[in-house]
Amino acid sequence: MLTLRGKGKSPKKFATVAVPHTKQLSPSPIGAPKTLGPLSVEESELLRQLDLSRMPRHVAVIMDGNGRWAQRRHLPRIAGHRYGTKTARTTIETCARLNIEALTLYAFSVENWRRPKVETDFLMQLLREYIRKEMPLIQRNNIRMRFLGRIDELPLGVQKDVRQATEQTAANTGMCLCIAFNYGGRAEIVDAMNAILAQRAGNGINGHATNGHATTRRNGHAPAKQKNGDAGEHARFDSNGHFQRITEDEVSSYLYTEGLPDPDLLIRTSGEMRVSNFLLWQIAYAEMYVSDTLWPDFNRARLLEALVEFQKRDRRYGGLQQPNSPARSDEASLADSPHAAGK
Ligand code: FPP
Repeated sequence: MLTLRGKGKSPKKFATVAVPHTKQLSPSPIGAPKTLGPLSVEESELLRQLDLSRMPRHVAVIMDGNGRWAQRRHLPRIAGHRYGTKTARTTIETCARLNIEALTLYAFSVENWRRPKVETDFLMQLLREYIRKEMPLIQRNNIRMRFLGRIDELPLGVQKDVRQATEQTAANTGMCLCIAFNYGGRAEIVDAMNAILAQRAGNGINGHATNGHATTRRNGHAPAKQKNGDAGEHARFDSNGHFQRITEDEVSSYLYTEGLPDPDLLIRTSGEMRVSNFLLWQIAYAEMYVSDTLWPDFNRARLLEALVEFQKRDRRYGGLQQPNSPARSDEASLADSPHAAGK
């Protein structure tokens, strides 16, 4: 039996939950059980409903509602963002503890530059502060950090911190925490297409496409190794002289999320029914979960609730109902399968 118990003392408020052997987490270097802290009765009950062997591999979150949360308290909007970092901390620790492979948090979109400068300046500083403050927790939990977005367009100080955090955590082997920052789903696909075009035009990894875009990724990472042959003419045509078509795998390998499984679960807080230009390619088969709770109030119980709901979904990927359908979208490239077209 694995006991999830923290430092909580009050038997009334907190419960200890014993996870049956079949639900035990696999041995993992991430997070000692006590890092979950004391569990409330509600959390214990939700955890009991969760099948820990069928967790989503990748959870993506649109953290929405910070402004409304602050306004309801007659506070400036930025107070909502600041409080939102606490929720991010709980979410990160909980997901790492539950052996989720990847968690992506949408912290700043390319469209967010339309907000007042005081707010965008604050969000830039908040990310820097967040990295500095949370690095011990990140390291303690063996978390790898990645940043998704046009990092090279950010203020230099932010770029420096982002690159440093990526490097400092690169050797960690636990959950991958992706912060989508200056991120746009369409921008990501455009960047991938430009990188593919440039590669095929034979300009090499550090060259420039004819439109002037560098062929290095906009988030500073070199593109994945080209799979379709040499650069130049050879790259554009196969041995039969046919034009090489771009494949779904090739596009995926040029996205910021290269190497990560696609999200199985997309959570959006604050009740809005929109995707907001988030991971447009990757969420093709994600289960959506919209919570009315505003992000700063999206506590551990609400997260567990989302995970429980996810496990009730019947994932069909456009096919027919499968007996014992797994919660995780395991490696098979369903997109390339003849059964892919569908709901
Ligand atoms: C959307 O709420 C939220 C954002 C644009 C910023 C999200 C940032 C955080 C949660 C804090 C930073 C977190 C990390 C991990 C660095 P909104 O402002 O659009 O809310 P509203 O719809 O109520 O106005």
